Amino acid sequence: MTLPEQHPLHGRTADAPLIRAYRGQRPATTPVWFQRQAGRSLPEYRDLRTGTRMLDACLDPDLVTEITLQPVRRHGVDAAIFFSDIVVPLKVAGVDVDIVPGKGPVIEHPIRTAADVAALRERTLDDLTPITTAVQRLTAELGSTPLIGFAGAPFTLAAYLVEGGPSKDQLAARTLMHAQPEVWADLMTWLADLTGEFLHAQVMAGASAAQLFDSWAGGLSLADYQAHVAPYSARALRQVRGLDVPTVHFGVGTGHLLGAMHEVGVDVVGVDWRTPLDQAAAAIPGVPLQGNIDPALLAAPWEALTAHTADVLAAGRAAPAHVLNLGHGVPPTTDPDVLTRLVAWVHQQ
Ligand code: CP3
Repeated sequence: MTLPEQHPLHGRTADAPLIRAYRGQRPATTPVWFQRQAGRSLPEYRDLRTGTRMLDACLDPDLVTEITLQPVRRHGVDAAIFFSDIVVPLKVAGVDVDIVPGKGPVIEHPIRTAADVAALRERTLDDLTPITTAVQRLTAELGSTPLIGFAGAPFTLAAYLVEGGPSKDQLAARTLMHAQPEVWADLMTWLADLTGEFLHAQVMAGASAAQLFDSWAGGLSLADYQAHVAPYSARALRQVRGLDVPTVHFGVGTGHLLGAMHEVGVDVVGVDWRTPLDQAAAAIPGVPLQGNIDPALLAAPWEALTAHTADVLAAGRAAPAHVLNLGHGVPPTTDPDVLTRLVAWVHQQ
């Protein structure tokens, strides 16, 4: 029997509260981190990023290392999330993608036809050295604090590629799915392999957990998700199966998809702020959960924020283990001191 591949550094974080919770063993203190904790809510991030485009920053190991560590130092969170973006593998594969401040990923030539997809499928990940170098530096610096690697799920990436940028309801992507199912399948297969390779590279370089972001999956019906999306997310995740790292799957507005999102083969499901965690736990019993403070509460009075967080912690007890997080990302206007105070407050509960 061959043993699964393992990175020697994974052992260093095996007893970290985050990893124990991801494995379903409820630690004494609830671990906490914030989606988008590395970024514009931090003045030290804005200083470092001055004059550097987002995607250039993501491919600079020095910047990635420093930006990833900033929120860990400042807030004392239980995990670092790798500073990158879901479109970085597309960029590394040579797709003409950019991240426009205040807007998000923009694709110069949207993918709409069989010929567009065929051309895309010629592309492979060119060089992941900037990514693996940054992960190696980070895991060395972080010691027993886990680094979470991540990737965008095939559907969310397809939505950007087909729409050409952010969209309200992913109408063009959902149309392609039904109008040209073979073209859709080819596009999603290519994306699944790209995403899987990106995750695999991070884990093999030392990341202790891997999160798949299917941010826009909530716009799909359960039937469409199961038929046209879930098989490709499962295909991506197979590349990190057996590597001894827990996996997390998150989407926004996915209350109706939680069971299907778990079934693609992950250990933990991330829940947005719309679905109370006890309701999520009833939908997927026995599954550790991550979430789901409403980001809007970060700008509300402290008493309102802590009362809401206490409710989230109480509802999270319905799951075998709970990692506290936001129901989506940190808004750029957030006062970072609120996050620092909240981490300390959660650790005292
Ligand atoms: O702390 C972290 O979470 C680490 C890094 C991270 C970023 N993007 C950095 C970033 C992560 C995990 C992401 C994932 C990501 N990127 C997702 C999935 C999570 C989610 O929010 O649903 C998505 C959909 C994207 C695509 C994307 N990239 C959007 C929608 C935006 C915002 C555009 C804007 O300017 O408002 C980005 C840009 C981005 N990604 C920034 C950061 C720090 C801001 C860029 C900047 O600082 O100029």
